[in-house]
Amino acid sequence: MKNSLKEKTHSIPAQVHTFFKAKRISTPAAILIGVVIGLSISRLFGGWSTSSHPTQWRSSHTPSTSSHRQQTRHPTQVPSIDQRFRILELLTTLTPHYTRECGAKVQPLYAQQASERYSPLIGHNPPSDGSWNEWVHKFTGLDEDSNTRKRETKSSKRGSDVAKAPHKYFFAINLYNSFDILPDLFSTLFRVSAILGYPNIFVSIYENGSTDQTKALLRIFSSLTHAVGLRFTIRTSMRTRGAFNHRIEYLAEVRNAAFLPLHELRDGEGEIFDTIVFMNDVLPCVDDLLELIYQSRLNNAGITCAADYMYHTELQTPVFYDNWVARDINGTALENAPFERVFNHPPSNSRWLAHLPVQVQSCWNGIAVLDPEPFYLASRVKFRMARITEGECSASECSLICNDYWEAGYGRIMMVPRVKLAYDSKVYDLIHPARRNLTSIRGYVRLGGLPDNPRTDPQDRAWFGPHDRLFMEEESTPIEFTSGPSHVWCWGWDGAGDLEGPDVDPIWEEMSNKTRLPSAIKVRHDRGFEDL
Ligand SMILES: *[C@@H]1O[C@H](CO)[C@@H](O)[C@H](O)[C@H]1NC(C)=O
Ligand SMILES: *[C@@H]1O[C@H](CO)[C@@H](O)[C@H](O)[C@H]1NC(C)=O
Ligand SMILES: *[C@@H]1O[C@H](CO)[C@@H](O)[C@H](O)[C@H]1NC(C)=O
Ligand SMILES: *[C@@H]1O[C@H](CO)[C@@H](O)[C@H](O)[C@H]1NC(C)=O
Repeated sequence: MKNSLKEKTHSIPAQVHTFFKAKRISTPAAILIGVVIGLSISRLFGGWSTSSHPTQWRSSHTPSTSSHRQQTRHPTQVPSIDQRFRILELLTTLTPHYTRECGAKVQPLYAQQASERYSPLIGHNPPSDGSWNEWVHKFTGLDEDSNTRKRETKSSKRGSDVAKAPHKYFFAINLYNSFDILPDLFSTLFRVSAILGYPNIFVSIYENGSTDQTKALLRIFSSLTHAVGLRFTIRTSMRTRGAFNHRIEYLAEVRNAAFLPLHELRDGEGEIFDTIVFMNDVLPCVDDLLELIYQSRLNNAGITCAADYMYHTELQTPVFYDNWVARDINGTALENAPFERVFNHPPSNSRWLAHLPVQVQSCWNGIAVLDPEPFYLASRVKFRMARITEGECSASECSLICNDYWEAGYGRIMMVPRVKLAYDSKVYDLIHPARRNLTSIRGYVRLGGLPDNPRTDPQDRAWFGPHDRLFMEEESTPIEFTSGPSHVWCWGWDGAGDLEGPDVDPIWEEMSNKTRLPSAIKVRHDRGFEDL
């Protein structure tokens, strides 16, 4: 692997090449990410190879030689390619703290699967010879079989006739006292953006009055992102819950605030986004985010969620967390329980237990990938509290937005069990155990276990198995969606008392007739991949 790394590759610009060597890359996944970043760089800075002379360091007091600037619209000097490269290098080598193990030491087959699976997400033109997949193989040191060879030809072809507008992503993030997790969050964000393409990303952070140094850290990251062409806004509010009568009204307001730039960019510049990634203060891995985006686009889903976990002190195990929002496709609540008892609906449960994406009526779970179209409609969908005067049950703003997606005909809502999220490092470590090399255990194969097979490797069959679980074919097959349930279990929170949680007796709330028709799950906005 080391050798192939150093091998001279014709079309990789010298700087990018040095960049890889300098980084001391130790895993195929890291190399993949590196290659992809390299590709982003070459795309982002167009004539990369023509500017191989490092610019001289110059004090800001030295008068600028480029006095004949034509454009008065750009009063500040744009960084040179070399300067940008140095920033990018700094950003992408940020070492995550909690999520350090995510991409480290992944099994080689997983790295290969992931590189093929997520190649349609690459948001920039492949190099002119269309051979990026070949590069990945070269860098990972893996032999290609005839199968991957075929795929390569396919994607090379796609590469040569890229004419479609790039897929644009709007990241909306709500933060509050998040100093501790910000470095990891940004480290992940920079890597994911390198794959999706920096110019295709807009990050909107709404920070509601943190009392720690969140703001200071955000400002540092923000200025760095601007230097590489990643657009980024931070809004801060000192408004606290006290100004609102209803807890859900306040939470809806906070979430809508992160969406403001979405509307401003549409109204002001006519810029339309294709996918929204909404995050709370959780710590996903790079491939967690890619998988959610992949599933969202593969299924043309209205809303795509991960699964989140918290520690249950009595059971002494992580249990599914967000049961206030999550409802199965029968309308029944998911349980705060160990994995085998989370889903009540039998067909959903069997998909869940097999780690396959499941259709649900409602979910949120820390990260949700949304189809933005309902937000752009004239009857604009937004986060809101229940219309209590109209007899609507006062569910969470996230349940209500799922209901509104159903109403608007975007009821393709799904959960991706593979993507497991935690809110603290204790749970994080429990749900992301390290992979052990079972091949070295004598008798393992004789006992029926085969290496590299997620169906027989006991580590992969365990619910909280290693993160680099191999993909099964069914995970690439689109879900067959069905129309919505007649009733949905609703546990209201009127917030009249001081109870920090649902305070109304739960009911089966009737859903409108519209949501029970096939038109509620029709594909209205094709966000799929050209070739799949
Ligand atoms: C900020 O919003 C979060 C939810 O995003 C909430 O938990 C927190 O209490 C809010 N902070 C303040 C100061 O109100
Ligand atoms: C399905 O939903 C109905 C209410 O519409 C409920 O009575 C029933 O118990 C639910 N079934 C399961 C398996 O959750
Ligand atoms: C696992 O162990 C076997 C036998 O000791 C070895 O041949 C193999 O390379 C190891 N695999 C990994 C991924 O380390
Ligand atoms: C919904 O459908 C049921 C029977 O299919 C009907 O009785 C009811 O009036 C309908 N409701 C609305 C609001 O159309």
